[in-house]
Amino acid sequence: MTIGIIGAGAIGQALAGRFVAAGEQVVISDSRGPRSLRGLVSSTGPGLLAGTVAEAAEEEVVVLAVPWRRLREAVAAADVSDWQERIVIDTTNPPGRPTGHLPGPPGSGSDGPGGRTSSEVVAGLVPGSRLVKAFNTLRPDVLGADPRTPAGRRVIFLSGNHPGANGRVARIAGRVGWAAVDLGPLAEGGRLQQVPGGPLATLHLVMEP
Ligand SMILES: NC(=O)c1ccc[n+]([C@@H]2O[C@H](COP(=O)([O-])OP(=O)(O)OC[C@H]3O[C@@H](n4cnc5c(N)ncnc54)[C@H](OP(=O)(O)O)[C@@H]3O)[C@@H](O)[C@H]2O)c1
Repeated sequence: MTIGIIGAGAIGQALAGRFVAAGEQVVISDSRGPRSLRGLVSSTGPGLLAGTVAEAAEEEVVVLAVPWRRLREAVAAADVSDWQERIVIDTTNPPGRPTGHLPGPPGSGSDGPGGRTSSEVVAGLVPGSRLVKAFNTLRPDVLGADPRTPAGRRVIFLSGNHPGANGRVARIAGRVGWAAVDLGPLAEGGRLQQVPGGPLATLHLVMEP
């Protein structure tokens, strides 16, 4: 299995490094094209390839790791009309106040999630996918570090409306070394892990062996 990553900044790079260290194949992309990622690819090792956004989006599991305000543009560059049940991992966090009115991604047709969680808004941008919200609550330096610590495995939270997809992402995370905690559907679990404002935002836990 190959994991596609859209966004090669702090979060995209942290995840790419961890996935590759665990033996996964990764295609990473940014808005400027594969040539801009040559340095990253050569420093990460043979498991990492640079691709276009569309190439990353072809993979069975696709990570969205772009700023909220650029989500719409990134999804447009992916050029996918039907995600055909592919797993889309949403790492994004919207700007805004902990509660109340949050701006939707530009052009999303939504002026804000309203009662919805941010990942429910993102799910609307990738129709047909099985979206899993994950890896959005930890800082990039923590996410990019070895999840197997002397005290136990670092916890990552995930949520999504498709239990099979949640389980798949939990297994991928487990191979990397994280302890994945499935919080259930987006409306409930997604709210708990929403940043800013959710009670699990920025919570850094390790699970004892
Ligand atoms: N940093 C954190 O502490 C943190 C923690 C958890 C979650 N998050 C969330 O994770 C997401 C990424 O954050 P980050 O800190 O990694 O951001 P970042 O360091 O600013 O990196 C953003 C990446 O997105 C790429 N990008 C922007 N527009 C794109 C497009 N249209 N198509 C393809 N790639 C595009 C950028 O590529 P170019 O440079 O080529 O434009 C860049 O590689 C955000 O939604 C953020 O809220 C961040």
